[in-house]
Amino acid sequence: MQHDGSGRIFVQNLSKHFGPVAAVQNLSFEVRPGSVTGFLGPNGAGKTTTLRMLLGLVTPSAGVATINGRPYHQLGNPAQVVGAVLENEGFHPKRTARNHLKVYAAAIGAPDQRVEEVLGLVGLTGAADRRAGGFSLGMRQRLALATALLGNPQVLVLDEPANGLDPEGIVWLRNFLRAYAREGRTVLVSSHLLSEVEQTIDQVVIISHGVTRYYGPLDQLRSSQQSRVLVQAADANALVKALQEAGFTQVEPTPDGRVAVVGATRQQIGDLVAKSGIAVYGIEEERADLEKLFFQLTSPQYPGTQYPGTQYAGMPQQGGWGGPPPGYPPQQQYQQAPPQQGHGGWGGQG
Ligand SMILES: Nc1ncnc2c1ncn2[C@@H]1O[C@H](COP(=O)(O)OP(=O)(O)O)[C@@H](O)[C@H]1O
Ligand SMILES: [Mg+2]
Repeated sequence: MQHDGSGRIFVQNLSKHFGPVAAVQNLSFEVRPGSVTGFLGPNGAGKTTTLRMLLGLVTPSAGVATINGRPYHQLGNPAQVVGAVLENEGFHPKRTARNHLKVYAAAIGAPDQRVEEVLGLVGLTGAADRRAGGFSLGMRQRLALATALLGNPQVLVLDEPANGLDPEGIVWLRNFLRAYAREGRTVLVSSHLLSEVEQTIDQVVIISHGVTRYYGPLDQLRSSQQSRVLVQAADANALVKALQEAGFTQVEPTPDGRVAVVGATRQQIGDLVAKSGIAVYGIEEERADLEKLFFQLTSPQYPGTQYPGTQYAGMPQQGGWGGPPPGYPPQQQYQQAPPQQGHGGWGGQG
């Protein structure tokens, strides 16, 4: 039976045990074409094992992983469906980049012309006749990517592709992957560092200890981090009163003496203080700290049950995360916990 040509990756209830080690546990997610999906988790989380199962290199203990509706080994023409770069891929050190690619091109029936194309795509044309043994880690990453591109695949799977790249290489990779996805192709990239791929990815699958912790659009994860506007006012009490009268109920003190307002824009605050005649020295929007959330989602002391929506009954859906766990982010509300540092009327009740 032919694959369905959808460009979709499906991972459903996938598990892998290595003896006593549960490397991957009941993992489910879907990757669709036209976007870049980040597969994130700390070292040892099970990313490489999952990708190896997807590519038919490791047999799952349970569950299935498919590309275009078929397990990898049932794709009649795998090189044209999926190109992959996994960790620690070796090159014959004495072979030049061009010759390495020619060997692989011949193996999948791609013309020599395609070798020149992929060398150009990854920016290695100038180094094509140098031996791969003398390449830097970044150049080896590019050569591995060029190899994966030989079959002009619909789906690209890259394991930690940013490893070893210098900042310029990371920018180049980001642009390359985004352009590849814009052509309607599917891109799945793993990383143990959110910051390395944050600007590259649209969707995210975050795993820890082989278990899904978050699965959905990155924007949704970002917006689950309630952003706050931090205001430094001459008279904090007057500001809090004015905010509460204007209907802003989530008003909190910050340790540095500012007033944090949840659910307000800088413009709303600016208008309000102008109208109320309150002197302010600064109005700043707090950037949602994704890195902190990533760390919390993947640390062992935060058990999976704390995160509603990450348990899948069946096939995953977009945005399978039900929102932030109760009590996250930790908030100090005036109503519940008036600050102790001598801010007299900061209770804000009137
Ligand atoms: N071939 C193997 N034999 C035994 N344990 C393995 C093997 N491959 C991976 N593991 C273990 O499985 C877990 C997940 O590893 P891995 O998939 O490489 O994680 P990641 O790529 O997220 O860093 C780790 O505890 C690792 O030690
Ligand atoms: Mg790995």
